[in-house]
Amino acid sequence: MEQMLGGTRITYLGHSTFRFVTPGGEQIIIDPFLTNNPHTPEDLKRVGELDTILITHGHFDHFDDVESLAAQTDAGTVSNFEIMSYLQGQGIEKAVPVMKGGSAQVGGIKVTATHAFHSSSIALDDGSMIYGGEPLGFVLEFESGFKLYHAGDTAVFGDMRLIGELYSPDVALLPIGDRLTMGPFEAAHAARLLGVNHVVPMHYSPEVMPIFTGTPEKFQEHVATIAPGVSVHVMEPGDDLES
Ligand code: NI
Ligand code: MN
Repeated sequence: MEQMLGGTRITYLGHSTFRFVTPGGEQIIIDPFLTNNPHTPEDLKRVGELDTILITHGHFDHFDDVESLAAQTDAGTVSNFEIMSYLQGQGIEKAVPVMKGGSAQVGGIKVTATHAFHSSSIALDDGSMIYGGEPLGFVLEFESGFKLYHAGDTAVFGDMRLIGELYSPDVALLPIGDRLTMGPFEAAHAARLLGVNHVVPMHYSPEVMPIFTGTPEKFQEHVATIAPGVSVHVMEPGDDLES
């Protein structure tokens, strides 16, 4: 694992939020949902310095801390065109749009946007909702060559096989909570289609939404039969991906 990571540090902050520290020392966060996230321990809610914020879609449980973190840290934001336009309207200038199939070099990492079967919108304080473009997944390639796929919120889809063929990610972060995304059965098929060796379940904590029924245990059971040989790494908030 250590050799595969090549000096990249991956820390789980709860729900779908992960922090990456690159071999070059850049700090990246994906889908920041911290302040109001009951799955994130208090001591992890403040992230300190940040270079880049990646955003898969506009739903609050992926977006809640984006504006405050961008303002506090001067980090660049990366998401689809509609979310970039919204953020620029909020005064956040350092915004990099990427659309599905496209890549952007952001500091030391190459970010490629992929498909995700879901929706995307941004809820405003007055209760109205604005269009958030199409939801994304991201493939990240770090300086060391280590590659990670964060699926965002999605159903399983056949072109996960194409993501595997084109990018060969080493690790996939997959939602398993069911109801709002794929559940453990579908996520095990996602692992099979991607052809990855390592998967990390996310987006399942009932603390965040009591409607989630998918569990890491059920996911492990399905992976054992559907994608045998794939290692499931269940992370607690605060854990680094190590074993
Ligand atoms: Ni969502
Ligand atoms: Mn979500």
